Amino acid sequence: MSTSPTTITLRRPDDMHLHVRDGEAMRAVLPFTAARFARALIMPNLKPPVTSTRQALEYRRRILEALPGGVRFDPLMTLYLTDRTDPAEADRAKADGGILGFKLYPAGATTHSDAGVTDIRRVDAVLARMEEIGLVLQVHGEVTDPDVDVFEREARFIDTVLSPLAVRFPRLRIVFEHITSRAAVDFVLRAREGIAATVTPQHLLMNRNALFAGGLRPHHYCLPVLKSEADREALLGALAGGSPRFFLGTDSAPHGRAVKEAACGCAGIFSAHGALELYAEGFEAAGRLERLEAFASEHGADFYGLPRNSGQIRLIKKPWEVPASYPYGTDRLVPLRSGERIAWQAVQEPPGATAGAMPAGTANR
Ligand code: NCD
Ligand code: ZN
Repeated sequence: MSTSPTTITLRRPDDMHLHVRDGEAMRAVLPFTAARFARALIMPNLKPPVTSTRQALEYRRRILEALPGGVRFDPLMTLYLTDRTDPAEADRAKADGGILGFKLYPAGATTHSDAGVTDIRRVDAVLARMEEIGLVLQVHGEVTDPDVDVFEREARFIDTVLSPLAVRFPRLRIVFEHITSRAAVDFVLRAREGIAATVTPQHLLMNRNALFAGGLRPHHYCLPVLKSEADREALLGALAGGSPRFFLGTDSAPHGRAVKEAACGCAGIFSAHGALELYAEGFEAAGRLERLEAFASEHGADFYGLPRNSGQIRLIKKPWEVPASYPYGTDRLVPLRSGERIAWQAVQEPPGATAGAMPAGTANR
């Protein structure tokens, strides 16, 4: 990676945790990711969830069909783990090659998780099979007990579920998704081999005050929920430290404005329109811009045993104003930093290739 104060050129990155939904919604959001990332690990929490290899392959085909003409993008898939997942499904998934693992949603933990796992012991047979054949478990790490404080659910999950799990299946490869806390950073850094974590731009750049800045801010609500400033600093410190155990996963999770700005608003922040650029802000604030490339383009691929991407993307330090909203089917989508600025801009490299600035989107409204 070459670095100068106003330009960074890096290997094309991977987004190792992404929600693209389906149909019209997918067509609205996919171009943002495909313009920046060569690959993304596509989350399976559709309704109904993507629980089988067959469904994942069909979903993958729909994603490829939804890509704008001429755009190259490789969707990596994961299956939704349920209480009833058959261990033989792990074998079918492994045989395909394009399916990297299973996503564990504790039932009730987040958006579209009601079909998730009610008790980790119920999936022991699948986990044993995954461990044996080398499929990765992607974990939404929060307990669902309503008696546990919502800001403590990740820490409690580490103690009661994740830590024992890592011991019971000592060779199972695990990605602790979208970590948010100092407890999670400490766990990952001290954990045995084969354990890594993704970090989102929102948890890197905001603390829980952002949920209440001048009033209730539904567009800053995601799960796991934003944590304290000390937690945010721990995440930033972890990334600045350069450990290969941490890699990029945006958790960009689009929801239409109507269901976000509601009496009971959905969890999920849309960040695909400026994801890489937002991480650049974080690394720059930590004085470690030169470590962005490994986090975005190397650590994830290496953990999953995938070749690093060829090709490059360039970021220039040129603030731009994020539109108030983007089209999203019949609704609108309010992006992270809506109506505010992002300090960096992405451009294709070489400039002539697919040409010019990223789709910063259409119509402000
Ligand atoms: C995600 C979604 O909307 O699908 N929401 C979120 O707040 N992150 C689900 C998830 O990853 O938890
Ligand atoms: Zn997610």
